Amino acid sequence: MGSVRKDFPTIRKGLGIYLDSACQSLRPDQVIRAMDGYYEGFPACGGRSVHAMATKVSVAVDDCRSALASFFGTDDPECYIFTKNATEGLNTAAFGLGLKRGDVVVTTDAEHNSNHVPWLHLGETVGIERRFSKSGPTGEFDMESFKSCMDRNVKVVSVQHSNNVTGCSVPVRAVTEIAHDYGATVVIDGAQAAPHMPVDLKRIDADIYCFSAHKMLGPSGMGVMYGKREVLERMRPLTLGGGTVGLATYDSVTLAPVPDRFEAGLLNYAGIIGTKAAVDYLSRIGMDEIEAWDTALMKRAMGNLEDIKNLHFVGPDQPGKRCGVLSFNIDGLISHDIAMMLDSMSGVMIRSGMHCAHPFYVSRAVDGSARASTYLYNSPEEIDIFTDTVRKIAETFGE
Ligand SMILES: Cc1ncc(COP(=O)(O)O)c(C=O)c1O
Repeated sequence: MGSVRKDFPTIRKGLGIYLDSACQSLRPDQVIRAMDGYYEGFPACGGRSVHAMATKVSVAVDDCRSALASFFGTDDPECYIFTKNATEGLNTAAFGLGLKRGDVVVTTDAEHNSNHVPWLHLGETVGIERRFSKSGPTGEFDMESFKSCMDRNVKVVSVQHSNNVTGCSVPVRAVTEIAHDYGATVVIDGAQAAPHMPVDLKRIDADIYCFSAHKMLGPSGMGVMYGKREVLERMRPLTLGGGTVGLATYDSVTLAPVPDRFEAGLLNYAGIIGTKAAVDYLSRIGMDEIEAWDTALMKRAMGNLEDIKNLHFVGPDQPGKRCGVLSFNIDGLISHDIAMMLDSMSGVMIRSGMHCAHPFYVSRAVDGSARASTYLYNSPEEIDIFTDTVRKIAETFGE
Protein backbone atom coordinates (compact mmCIF):
# COMPACT_ATOMS: atom_id res chain seq x y z
CA MET A 1 0.00 0.00 0.00
CA GLY A 2 3.03 2.25 0.57
CA SER A 3 3.32 2.76 -3.21
CA VAL A 4 0.10 4.77 -3.37
CA ARG A 5 1.63 7.60 -1.33
CA LYS A 6 3.50 8.97 -4.33
CA ASP A 7 0.17 9.67 -6.05
CA PHE A 8 -0.94 12.23 -3.45
CA PRO A 9 0.43 15.77 -3.89
CA THR A 10 -0.01 16.81 -0.25
CA ILE A 11 1.98 13.76 0.86
CA ARG A 12 4.74 14.38 -1.71
CA LYS A 13 5.00 17.97 -0.54
CA GLY A 14 5.16 16.92 3.12
CA LEU A 15 2.19 19.04 4.11
CA GLY A 16 1.52 17.17 7.34
CA ILE A 17 0.03 13.90 8.53
CA TYR A 18 -3.56 13.74 7.43
CA LEU A 19 -5.77 11.72 9.76
CA ASP A 20 -9.10 13.36 8.93
CA SER A 21 -10.26 11.18 6.06
CA ALA A 22 -13.61 10.37 7.65
CA CYS A 23 -14.38 14.03 6.96
CA GLN A 24 -12.85 14.32 3.53
CA SER A 25 -10.09 12.28 1.89
CA LEU A 26 -6.95 13.46 0.11
CA ARG A 27 -7.04 13.28 -3.68
CA PRO A 28 -4.54 11.53 -5.96
CA ASP A 29 -3.06 13.04 -9.12
CA GLN A 30 -5.35 10.84 -11.20
CA VAL A 31 -8.46 12.58 -9.84
CA ILE A 32 -6.99 16.08 -10.04
CA ARG A 33 -5.77 15.48 -13.61
CA ALA A 34 -9.15 14.14 -14.70
CA MET A 35 -10.85 17.30 -13.47
CA ASP A 36 -8.21 19.54 -15.03
CA GLY A 37 -8.72 17.60 -18.26
CA TYR A 38 -12.38 18.58 -18.25
CA TYR A 39 -11.73 22.28 -17.58
CA GLU A 40 -8.92 22.46 -20.12
CA GLY A 41 -10.34 20.24 -22.86
CA PHE A 42 -14.15 20.14 -22.89
CA PRO A 43 -15.63 22.51 -20.28
CA ALA A 44 -19.18 22.30 -21.63
CA CYS A 45 -22.48 20.98 -20.27
CA GLY A 46 -23.81 17.48 -20.81
CA GLY A 47 -27.21 16.19 -21.84
CA ARG A 48 -28.35 19.36 -23.62
CA SER A 49 -26.24 20.80 -26.43
CA VAL A 50 -25.26 18.50 -29.28
CA HIS A 51 -21.87 19.94 -30.26
CA ALA A 52 -18.60 18.05 -29.96
CA MET A 53 -17.59 19.24 -26.49
CA ALA A 54 -21.04 18.67 -25.02
CA THR A 55 -21.16 15.18 -26.48
CA LYS A 56 -17.84 14.40 -24.83
CA VAL A 57 -19.29 15.56 -21.49
CA SER A 58 -22.43 13.44 -21.93
CA VAL A 59 -20.29 10.38 -22.65
CA ALA A 60 -18.11 11.09 -19.58
CA VAL A 61 -21.22 11.36 -17.38
CA ASP A 62 -22.50 8.01 -18.69
CA ASP A 63 -19.04 6.49 -18.14
CA CYS A 64 -19.10 7.57 -14.51
CA ARG A 65 -22.51 5.97 -13.93
CA SER A 66 -21.26 2.75 -15.53
CA ALA A 67 -18.14 2.77 -13.35
CA LEU A 68 -20.32 3.25 -10.25
CA ALA A 69 -22.63 0.39 -11.25
CA SER A 70 -19.72 -1.94 -11.69
CA PHE A 71 -18.00 -0.76 -8.47
CA PHE A 72 -21.16 -1.37 -6.42
CA GLY A 73 -22.22 -4.55 -8.21
CA THR A 74 -25.50 -3.49 -9.82
CA ASP A 75 -26.77 -3.71 -13.40
CA ASP A 76 -28.43 -0.38 -14.09
CA PRO A 77 -26.09 2.66 -14.30
CA GLU A 78 -29.06 5.03 -14.57
CA CYS A 79 -29.93 4.27 -10.95
CA TYR A 80 -26.95 6.33 -9.74
CA ILE A 81 -28.06 9.92 -9.14
CA PHE A 82 -25.44 12.64 -8.76
CA THR A 83 -25.90 14.77 -5.67
CA LYS A 84 -23.67 17.28 -3.95
CA ASN A 85 -23.03 15.01 -0.96
CA ALA A 86 -24.51 12.17 1.07
CA THR A 87 -26.70 14.65 2.93
CA GLU A 88 -28.50 15.71 -0.24
CA GLY A 89 -29.18 12.08 -1.11
CA LEU A 90 -30.59 11.36 2.34
CA ASN A 91 -32.80 14.46 2.16
CA THR A 92 -34.02 13.45 -1.28
CA ALA A 93 -35.04 10.09 0.16
CA ALA A 94 -36.65 11.54 3.29
CA PHE A 95 -38.71 14.14 1.48
CA GLY A 96 -39.32 12.12 -1.68
CA LEU A 97 -40.83 8.93 -0.29
CA GLY A 98 -44.24 10.51 0.29
CA LEU A 99 -44.52 9.73 4.00
CA LYS A 100 -47.76 10.62 5.79
CA ARG A 101 -48.83 11.35 9.36
CA GLY A 102 -48.48 8.23 11.50
CA ASP A 103 -46.00 6.48 9.19
CA VAL A 104 -43.11 5.10 11.23
CA VAL A 105 -39.43 5.62 10.41
CA VAL A 106 -36.85 3.48 12.20
CA THR A 107 -33.24 4.64 12.54
CA THR A 108 -30.52 3.78 15.02
CA ASP A 109 -29.83 6.08 17.96
CA ALA A 110 -26.34 6.80 16.62
CA GLU A 111 -27.04 8.38 13.25
CA HIS A 112 -25.13 11.28 11.75
CA ASN A 113 -27.29 14.42 11.77
CA SER A 114 -27.75 13.98 8.03
CA ASN A 115 -29.74 10.82 8.68
CA HIS A 116 -31.49 12.20 11.73
CA VAL A 117 -32.48 15.84 11.21
CA PRO A 118 -34.47 15.31 7.96
CA TRP A 119 -36.62 12.68 9.73
CA LEU A 120 -36.90 14.92 12.79
CA HIS A 121 -38.19 17.66 10.51
CA LEU A 122 -40.73 15.28 8.97
CA GLY A 123 -41.89 14.47 12.48
CA GLU A 124 -42.54 18.15 13.13
CA THR A 125 -44.09 19.01 9.77
CA VAL A 126 -45.86 15.84 8.57
CA GLY A 127 -46.31 13.97 11.82
CA ILE A 128 -44.30 10.83 11.08
CA GLU A 129 -43.36 8.73 14.10
CA ARG A 130 -39.73 7.94 14.92
CA ARG A 131 -38.42 4.76 16.53
CA PHE A 132 -34.79 4.33 17.53
CA SER A 133 -32.93 1.05 17.52
CA LYS A 134 -30.74 1.32 20.65
CA SER A 135 -27.01 0.76 20.28
CA GLY A 136 -24.88 -1.08 22.81
CA PRO A 137 -22.54 0.74 25.22
CA THR A 138 -19.71 0.99 22.67
CA GLY A 139 -22.08 1.95 19.88
CA GLU A 140 -22.59 -1.52 18.43
CA PHE A 141 -25.81 -2.34 16.59
CA ASP A 142 -28.30 -4.36 18.62
CA MET A 143 -30.40 -6.67 16.45
CA GLU A 144 -32.93 -7.40 19.21
CA SER A 145 -33.57 -3.70 19.76
CA PHE A 146 -33.97 -3.22 16.01
CA LYS A 147 -36.44 -6.10 15.73
CA SER A 148 -38.48 -4.66 18.60
CA CYS A 149 -38.96 -1.46 16.57
CA MET A 150 -40.50 -3.29 13.63
CA ASP A 151 -44.18 -3.74 12.77
CA ARG A 152 -46.43 -3.11 9.79
CA ASN A 153 -46.59 0.65 10.48
CA VAL A 154 -42.88 1.00 9.69
CA LYS A 155 -42.65 2.52 6.23
CA VAL A 156 -38.93 3.35 6.18
CA VAL A 157 -35.86 1.90 7.85
CA SER A 158 -32.97 4.36 7.47
CA VAL A 159 -29.67 3.30 8.98
CA GLN A 160 -26.00 4.12 8.69
CA HIS A 161 -23.84 1.42 7.16
CA SER A 162 -20.87 2.48 9.33
CA ASN A 163 -20.71 5.02 12.09
CA ASN A 164 -18.45 8.08 11.87
CA VAL A 165 -17.62 8.17 15.60
CA THR A 166 -17.24 4.54 16.65
CA GLY A 167 -16.75 2.90 13.25
CA CYS A 168 -19.37 0.28 14.17
CA SER A 169 -21.14 -1.22 11.18
CA VAL A 170 -24.77 -2.19 10.89
CA PRO A 171 -25.44 -5.65 9.35
CA VAL A 172 -27.27 -3.98 6.49
CA ARG A 173 -28.07 -7.17 4.56
CA ALA A 174 -29.91 -8.69 7.54
CA VAL A 175 -31.58 -5.38 8.43
CA THR A 176 -32.80 -4.96 4.86
CA GLU A 177 -34.25 -8.46 4.79
CA ILE A 178 -36.18 -7.88 8.01
CA ALA A 179 -37.37 -4.44 6.89
CA HIS A 180 -38.58 -5.86 3.57
CA ASP A 181 -40.52 -8.58 5.41
CA TYR A 182 -42.53 -5.76 6.98
CA GLY A 183 -42.93 -3.97 3.63
CA ALA A 184 -40.62 -1.08 4.60
CA THR A 185 -38.34 0.83 2.24
CA VAL A 186 -34.68 0.72 3.24
CA VAL A 187 -32.44 3.79 3.06
CA ILE A 188 -28.76 3.37 3.90
CA ASP A 189 -26.29 6.09 4.77
CA GLY A 190 -23.12 4.70 3.24
CA ALA A 191 -20.97 7.81 3.77
CA GLN A 192 -18.42 6.02 5.95
CA ALA A 193 -18.71 2.47 4.63
CA ALA A 194 -18.42 3.08 0.87
CA PRO A 195 -14.84 4.42 1.10
CA HIS A 196 -13.58 1.68 3.42
CA MET A 197 -15.06 -1.71 2.52
CA PRO A 198 -16.40 -3.65 -0.46
CA VAL A 199 -20.09 -2.73 -0.86
CA ASP A 200 -22.25 -5.02 -2.98
CA LEU A 201 -25.54 -3.22 -3.41
CA LYS A 202 -27.22 -6.13 -5.16
CA ARG A 203 -26.44 -8.43 -2.24
CA ILE A 204 -27.47 -5.85 0.36
CA ASP A 205 -30.68 -5.31 -1.61
CA ALA A 206 -31.08 -1.75 -0.25
CA ASP A 207 -33.68 0.45 -1.86
CA ILE A 208 -31.63 3.64 -1.48
CA TYR A 209 -27.90 3.94 -0.70
CA CYS A 210 -26.27 7.37 -0.31
CA PHE A 211 -22.59 8.24 -0.08
CA SER A 212 -20.09 11.05 -0.61
CA ALA A 213 -17.41 10.97 -3.32
CA HIS A 214 -15.23 13.38 -1.32
CA LYS A 215 -14.63 10.74 1.36
CA MET A 216 -13.43 8.24 -1.27
CA LEU A 217 -10.73 10.20 -3.13
CA GLY A 218 -13.29 12.11 -5.22
CA PRO A 219 -13.88 15.85 -5.54
CA SER A 220 -15.41 18.08 -2.85
CA GLY A 221 -19.12 18.63 -3.10
CA MET A 222 -19.87 15.37 -4.91
CA GLY A 223 -22.15 12.62 -3.70
CA VAL A 224 -24.28 9.84 -5.13
CA MET A 225 -27.72 8.48 -4.33
CA TYR A 226 -28.25 4.96 -5.65
CA GLY A 227 -31.83 3.76 -5.81
CA LYS A 228 -33.62 0.74 -7.21
CA ARG A 229 -35.38 1.87 -10.35
CA GLU A 230 -38.87 1.05 -9.08
CA VAL A 231 -38.18 3.02 -5.89
CA LEU A 232 -36.76 6.03 -7.74
CA GLU A 233 -39.75 6.02 -10.08
CA ARG A 234 -42.18 6.46 -7.20
CA MET A 235 -40.10 9.14 -5.41
CA ARG A 236 -40.64 12.89 -5.75
CA PRO A 237 -37.49 14.86 -6.64
CA LEU A 238 -36.29 17.38 -4.05
CA THR A 239 -35.47 20.05 -6.64
CA LEU A 240 -37.25 20.74 -9.90
CA GLY A 241 -36.31 22.80 -12.94
CA GLY A 242 -34.15 22.54 -16.03
CA GLY A 243 -33.21 18.99 -16.95
CA THR A 244 -35.85 17.34 -14.76
CA VAL A 245 -38.82 17.53 -17.10
CA GLY A 246 -40.01 15.72 -20.20
CA LEU A 247 -42.30 18.56 -21.30
CA ALA A 248 -43.58 21.62 -19.47
CA THR A 249 -46.42 23.84 -20.64
CA TYR A 250 -47.79 26.91 -18.81
CA ASP A 251 -49.94 24.72 -16.63
CA SER A 252 -48.57 21.18 -16.69
CA VAL A 253 -45.36 19.24 -16.50
CA THR A 254 -44.23 15.66 -17.04
CA LEU A 255 -41.11 14.50 -15.28
CA ALA A 256 -38.11 13.24 -17.22
CA PRO A 257 -37.14 9.59 -16.73
CA VAL A 258 -34.69 8.46 -14.02
CA PRO A 259 -31.99 9.70 -13.46
CA ASP A 260 -32.61 13.11 -15.06
CA ARG A 261 -35.66 13.94 -12.93
CA PHE A 262 -33.41 14.05 -9.85
CA GLU A 263 -30.60 16.12 -11.38
CA ALA A 264 -31.94 19.66 -11.68
CA GLY A 265 -29.88 22.34 -13.42
CA LEU A 266 -26.36 22.02 -14.79
CA LEU A 267 -24.36 19.38 -12.98
CA ASN A 268 -20.90 19.40 -11.43
CA TYR A 269 -19.31 17.85 -14.53
CA ALA A 270 -15.74 18.20 -13.29
CA GLY A 271 -16.91 16.54 -10.09
CA ILE A 272 -18.54 13.68 -11.96
CA ILE A 273 -15.41 13.14 -14.04
CA GLY A 274 -13.28 13.25 -10.88
CA THR A 275 -15.62 10.76 -9.23
CA LYS A 276 -15.08 8.31 -12.08
CA ALA A 277 -11.31 8.70 -11.69
CA ALA A 278 -11.64 8.09 -7.94
CA VAL A 279 -13.73 4.94 -8.42
CA ASP A 280 -11.24 3.68 -11.02
CA TYR A 281 -8.40 4.31 -8.57
CA LEU A 282 -10.12 2.46 -5.73
CA SER A 283 -11.04 -0.42 -8.04
CA ARG A 284 -7.45 -0.75 -9.13
CA ILE A 285 -6.25 -1.01 -5.50
CA GLY A 286 -9.17 -3.24 -4.39
CA MET A 287 -11.58 -2.55 -1.54
CA ASP A 288 -10.58 -5.75 0.31
CA GLU A 289 -7.00 -4.48 0.46
CA ILE A 290 -8.12 -1.04 1.60
CA GLU A 291 -10.25 -2.52 4.37
CA ALA A 292 -7.37 -4.72 5.53
CA TRP A 293 -4.97 -1.74 5.50
CA ASP A 294 -7.34 0.40 7.60
CA THR A 295 -7.61 -2.45 10.10
CA ALA A 296 -3.83 -2.90 10.27
CA LEU A 297 -3.32 0.83 10.90
CA MET A 298 -6.05 0.83 13.52
CA LYS A 299 -4.50 -2.19 15.24
CA ARG A 300 -1.19 -0.37 15.40
CA ALA A 301 -2.74 2.86 16.70
CA MET A 302 -4.86 1.16 19.35
CA GLY A 303 -1.99 -1.07 20.41
CA ASN A 304 0.31 1.95 20.80
CA LEU A 305 -2.26 3.81 22.90
CA GLU A 306 -3.84 1.08 25.02
CA ASP A 307 -1.58 1.50 28.09
CA ILE A 308 -2.23 5.25 28.48
CA LYS A 309 -4.30 5.31 31.65
CA ASN A 310 -6.05 8.66 31.14
CA LEU A 311 -6.99 7.96 27.50
CA HIS A 312 -10.36 6.38 26.67
CA PHE A 313 -11.51 5.07 23.31
CA VAL A 314 -15.03 5.88 22.17
CA GLY A 315 -16.28 2.76 20.39
CA PRO A 316 -15.29 -0.90 20.31
CA ASP A 317 -11.85 -2.22 21.31
CA GLN A 318 -11.53 -4.43 18.22
CA PRO A 319 -9.57 -2.66 15.42
CA GLY A 320 -11.50 -4.62 12.77
CA LYS A 321 -14.74 -3.00 13.89
CA ARG A 322 -13.55 0.61 13.56
CA CYS A 323 -13.84 1.26 9.81
CA GLY A 324 -10.75 3.49 9.94
CA VAL A 325 -12.13 5.70 12.73
CA LEU A 326 -10.45 6.11 16.13
CA SER A 327 -12.30 8.39 18.54
CA PHE A 328 -10.86 9.03 21.99
CA ASN A 329 -10.78 11.36 24.96
CA ILE A 330 -8.06 12.25 27.45
CA ASP A 331 -9.10 13.07 31.01
CA GLY A 332 -8.83 16.77 31.74
CA LEU A 333 -8.64 17.89 28.09
CA ILE A 334 -11.29 18.99 25.67
CA SER A 335 -11.12 17.45 22.23
CA HIS A 336 -10.36 20.71 20.39
CA ASP A 337 -7.28 21.22 22.58
CA ILE A 338 -6.05 17.70 21.73
CA ALA A 339 -6.54 18.41 18.01
CA MET A 340 -4.76 21.77 18.14
CA MET A 341 -1.82 20.33 20.08
CA LEU A 342 -1.43 17.42 17.65
CA ASP A 343 -1.35 19.90 14.79
CA SER A 344 1.09 22.34 16.36
CA MET A 345 3.40 19.74 17.93
CA SER A 346 3.66 17.23 15.04
CA GLY A 347 1.61 18.45 12.09
CA VAL A 348 -0.98 15.72 12.70
CA MET A 349 -4.44 16.72 11.48
CA ILE A 350 -7.42 15.11 13.19
CA ARG A 351 -11.01 16.16 13.86
CA SER A 352 -12.54 17.15 17.20
CA GLY A 353 -15.99 17.91 18.58
CA MET A 354 -19.27 16.06 18.19
CA HIS A 355 -18.76 15.00 14.55
CA CYS A 356 -22.39 15.83 13.62
CA ALA A 357 -23.51 12.98 15.88
CA HIS A 358 -24.97 15.19 18.61
CA PRO A 359 -27.67 12.80 19.90
CA PHE A 360 -25.07 10.05 20.36
CA TYR A 361 -22.88 12.25 22.59
CA VAL A 362 -25.69 14.07 24.39
CA SER A 363 -27.41 10.77 25.31
CA ARG A 364 -24.12 9.49 26.79
CA ALA A 365 -23.33 12.80 28.53
CA VAL A 366 -20.02 12.99 26.65
CA ASP A 367 -18.82 16.33 25.34
CA GLY A 368 -17.45 15.12 22.00
CA SER A 369 -14.16 13.40 21.24
CA ALA A 370 -10.94 13.66 19.29
CA ARG A 371 -11.11 11.54 16.13
CA ALA A 372 -8.25 10.27 14.01
CA SER A 373 -9.32 8.56 10.80
CA THR A 374 -7.13 6.66 8.36
CA TYR A 375 -7.18 5.76 4.70
CA LEU A 376 -5.14 3.85 2.17
CA TYR A 377 -2.42 6.53 1.94
CA ASN A 378 -1.54 6.60 5.65
CA SER A 379 1.63 4.81 6.72
CA PRO A 380 2.55 2.93 9.92
CA GLU A 381 5.22 5.61 10.53
CA GLU A 382 2.54 8.31 10.48
CA ILE A 383 0.50 6.33 12.99
CA ASP A 384 3.53 6.15 15.30
CA ILE A 385 4.09 9.92 15.13
CA PHE A 386 0.40 10.41 15.92
CA THR A 387 0.41 8.02 18.89
CA ASP A 388 3.76 9.30 20.27
CA THR A 389 2.36 12.82 20.25
CA VAL A 390 -0.91 11.72 21.86
CA ARG A 391 1.15 10.05 24.61
CA LYS A 392 3.11 13.27 25.24
CA ILE A 393 -0.12 15.27 25.37
CA ALA A 394 -1.78 12.82 27.76
CA GLU A 395 1.25 12.67 30.07
CA THR A 396 1.99 16.39 30.05
CA PHE A 397 -1.42 18.02 29.95
CA GLY A 398 -3.96 15.30 30.88
CA GLU A 399 -5.22 14.59 34.39
C1 LIG B 1 -22.06 8.64 8.66
C2 LIG B 1 -22.17 9.92 7.88
N1 LIG B 1 -23.30 10.21 7.26
C3 LIG B 1 -23.46 11.33 6.54
C4 LIG B 1 -22.43 12.23 6.41
C5 LIG B 1 -22.65 13.46 5.60
O1 LIG B 1 -21.86 13.39 4.45
P1 LIG B 1 -21.78 14.62 3.46
O2 LIG B 1 -20.95 15.65 4.12
O3 LIG B 1 -21.19 14.07 2.24
O4 LIG B 1 -23.15 15.10 3.23
C6 LIG B 1 -21.21 11.99 7.04
C7 LIG B 1 -20.12 12.95 6.96
O5 LIG B 1 -19.18 12.94 7.70
C8 LIG B 1 -21.08 10.79 7.79
O6 LIG B 1 -19.94 10.50 8.41
